[in-house]
Amino acid sequence: MRRPLIIAPSILSADFADFGREIEAIEAQGADWVHVDVMDGHFVPNLTFGPPAVAAFRRHVKTVMDVHLMIAPVDPSIEAFAEAGADVITAHVEAGPHIHRTLQAIRGTGKKAGVALNPGTPAEAVQHLLDLTDLVCVMTVNPGFGGQRFLDMTDKIRALRAMIGDRPVQIEIDGGVTPETAPKVVAAGADVLVAGSAVFKGGSVANPAPYGANMRAIRDSVLRAVA
Ligand code: DX5
Ligand code: ZN
Repeated sequence: MRRPLIIAPSILSADFADFGREIEAIEAQGADWVHVDVMDGHFVPNLTFGPPAVAAFRRHVKTVMDVHLMIAPVDPSIEAFAEAGADVITAHVEAGPHIHRTLQAIRGTGKKAGVALNPGTPAEAVQHLLDLTDLVCVMTVNPGFGGQRFLDMTDKIRALRAMIGDRPVQIEIDGGVTPETAPKVVAAGADVLVAGSAVFKGGSVANPAPYGANMRAIRDSVLRAVA
């Protein structure tokens, strides 16, 4: 059975002075989800948005707001990001000693719980978390910045897909997704593709058509590969 492919543009590549209209533009051009990268300058070497900014984005998101927390500690902020209107909250397995409790806390807010794996972390790190998880995010770059080169994690994706079995757990790929790299990760078992630079390149709020063309190029590359 083929699973639907979800494209989740990362607004890390949007115009930081115009998030509301950027979100509306990518949704009008066919985005399935909106991916929000929260960075704390500690767990990752970059600093982005806190809960008030995420709450402001929410007013523009009509689809699904997918909030990727690259912060440590993460537990004290879960409630605030849930209140800010996240639909999916993803925490890193490397962000603290108690990821099991973190996922319980996310589920406890009524939101979908995601768990992310850095490139150096093996698939087995989430083996005992799969019944508490709605999504596993496989990082295909070291988190912190957009526009980095894709790291091939095909074996990890395949191992996760086998481990997940028939559980309703999605596999999300984050980092360096392009029409060149997308077919491989989808063939290995990915459902959700996060893409920042590959979606936003060449477009703007004033000229949003390239956003649509870029997302179509990713989708078409996958369809061509399975045809
Ligand atoms: C990296 C972020 C990604 C990033 C992806 O730390 O989690 O979501 O924005 O950007 P691209 O698609 O440009 O690699
Ligand atoms: Zn991300």
